[in-house]
Amino acid sequence: MMGNDLITQAAQRVAELKAYFVDHERFVPLAEGFSILAEKRLVDIQTDRISEAQGLALSGHSGAGKSAAITHLLAQERQRLADQGYGDSTIISLRGPSPATLKFVGQMLLRALGYPIGADRHAWYIWDLVQHHLKERRVLFVHLDEAQDLASRGTKHELDSVTSMLKTLMTDPEWPVGIILLGTNELEDILNHDHQLARRMRTVRFESLSPAAYGDDILDLLENYCELAQLGPEDDVLDLSHGERVVHAAANQFGIAIVLILDAIEDAYLHGQKTLNRHNFIRAYHRRTSCDAEFNPFVVPDFMRINARQVFSRENRT
Ligand SMILES: Nc1ncnc2c1ncn2[C@@H]1O[C@H](COP(=O)(O)OP(=O)(O)OP(=O)(O)O)[C@@H](O)[C@H]1O
Ligand SMILES: [Mg+2]
Repeated sequence: MMGNDLITQAAQRVAELKAYFVDHERFVPLAEGFSILAEKRLVDIQTDRISEAQGLALSGHSGAGKSAAITHLLAQERQRLADQGYGDSTIISLRGPSPATLKFVGQMLLRALGYPIGADRHAWYIWDLVQHHLKERRVLFVHLDEAQDLASRGTKHELDSVTSMLKTLMTDPEWPVGIILLGTNELEDILNHDHQLARRMRTVRFESLSPAAYGDDILDLLENYCELAQLGPEDDVLDLSHGERVVHAAANQFGIAIVLILDAIEDAYLHGQKTLNRHNFIRAYHRRTSCDAEFNPFVVPDFMRINARQVFSRENRT
C-alpha cells in the first residue's frame, strides 16, 4: 500500500533526478557548433565589424532531447556571457508560436522582449519594432522551438514571409541576430525549401538510437541513474537485452529512454524498494501507454515487433 508519505517522498526525489542533465556524446557537436557561432558574433562586436549572423538548426524526432539540450546549452551560454560582462547581450527563447503567422511570431517576439503589443498593428510595424528592440537589448540569438509548426500551421505564403523575415534578422546591417531553430523532421523540409535560409545555418541532427548499437550505452545510463537514485540495480535490469528493451520501448529516442528510466525509478520509490528491477519498467511502461502485457516490450520475448509509439494497444478492441 502506498502511503502519502511515500508519494511525497518519491515526488521529491524524482524531481531532483529530473534536474540532472545527461551529457551524452551527441551533445558535443551541438555545443561546439553553438560556441563557434557565439564566439564569431562576439569577435565581430568587439571589433566593431558587422557580418551576417549565422544560425543553428537542430532536428530530430519527438523525444530525442532537442529542447532539453538547447535549454541546457543556452543556460550555460547566458551564464558565460554574463561572466564575460555581456550581461546586456541576451538570448531570447520562444516556444513554437501558434498560429505561426508572420504577425503572430512578431508579436510573440515583442512580448518576449518585454514590449507586448495589440493585434491591431500591421505585421511590418510589429517587425520594425522587433528589429529595433533586438538591437536596443543587444540580443545575440533568438531561439525558436517547435519550428516545424512554421510549415504546418500557416499557409505556404506565410511560411515564405516568416523565413524571409528570419533571414532579414540574420542579415540586418546594423545588428544581425543569430536564429536557433529546433524541430522535428519537417524542420528539415523548411530549410530545404529555403536555400537562402539554409545556407546561413549550421545543422545538427539528433539521430534515433538503435537497440543493437545503444543497448550498452543505455545500461550505463541506467546504472548512473541508479547510483544517483541510491537504488541497487537487480540483475534483470543489467542484462544487455534489457538495455535494448529500454531503447525500443523509448521509440529509439534518447530523451524518452531517460523518462522511462525515471518512471521506473519512481515506481520503485513508490513501492518502498531499495533496488530497481524489471517489474518497475513493466509498470512504468504500462502507466505511460495503458498497453496490455502482450504489447509491453518489458514483458514479451519478441519485443522488437511492438510499436512503441502506440498507446492503448490491446488484443481485442471491444
Ligand atoms: N540530456 C538529457 N538529460 C536529462 N534528461 C533529458 C535529456 N534529454 C532529454 N531528457 C528528458 O527527455 C524529455 C524529452 O526530451 P525533449 O523535450 O528535449 O525532447 P524533444 O526532442 O524536444 O521532443 P519534442 O520534439 O517532442 O519537443 C525531457 O523532458 C527530459 O525529461
Ligand atoms: Mg521539444
